[in-house]
Amino acid sequence: MVESLAPTTGLTFPRSKGELQELGLHTTWLTIETLLEAWTGNYSPDWSVLNGANVLDIGAGSYLNGDHGAPWFARVCAVNGARVVVTDILPQSEVDIKLFEAIIDEDIIPPVLAGQFAQLPQLQGRTFDIIHSMNLVGFNPDPRLEGALNNLGVRLSEFEESLVRQTRALLNTGGVMYLGQLYGGVYRKS
Ligand SMILES: C[S@@+](CC[C@H](N)C(=O)[O-])C[C@H]1O[C@@H](n2cnc3c(N)ncnc32)[C@H](O)[C@@H]1O
Repeated sequence: MVESLAPTTGLTFPRSKGELQELGLHTTWLTIETLLEAWTGNYSPDWSVLNGANVLDIGAGSYLNGDHGAPWFARVCAVNGARVVVTDILPQSEVDIKLFEAIIDEDIIPPVLAGQFAQLPQLQGRTFDIIHSMNLVGFNPDPRLEGALNNLGVRLSEFEESLVRQTRALLNTGGVMYLGQLYGGVYRKS
């Protein structure tokens, strides 16, 4: 039984597959499981492999804006020992700030379109084992992102291509990436 959750106590996060399933966080556990299988090459690996892994979550969500969703993927990776960098246009809550190695709380459209995403100060000198983005681009794009791109006269596909190109360069060899089903699912860098 999971004692409590960050939104109610600000302290306790679910950590294991069982806890996530118990809380109905099925998408998060399935995504982590899928990425870890692709990364390790093993079926249903122990999540302790996350310990020390470098993880980037793009459009992670923020607990400060409930309807945008809390950053569950990033939280679960962090409490399993991963070094997690998150990006979201919204700031993170005090509790989440303590969990993450670095936070990019700005609009990522300008740096992505300029080909300068990896040059953001928080990403300087970093590469990643796992890069994740859910409900920002791909099969279920965030309407706010689409609206902002529309206002700039930029197609979503153009932004996605630029993002994929730059995130691929941030992956370690053998690293894995899931960006909302772009490229049909999980990409593994060989
Ligand atoms: C639909 S939510 C998804 C949150 C989380 N990944 C999930 O699946 O629950 C999309 C997130 O992308 C963020 N976002 C939208 N446009 C953005 C932009 N231009 N730059 C950075 N983050 C953005 C929003 O603030 C929001 O938290």
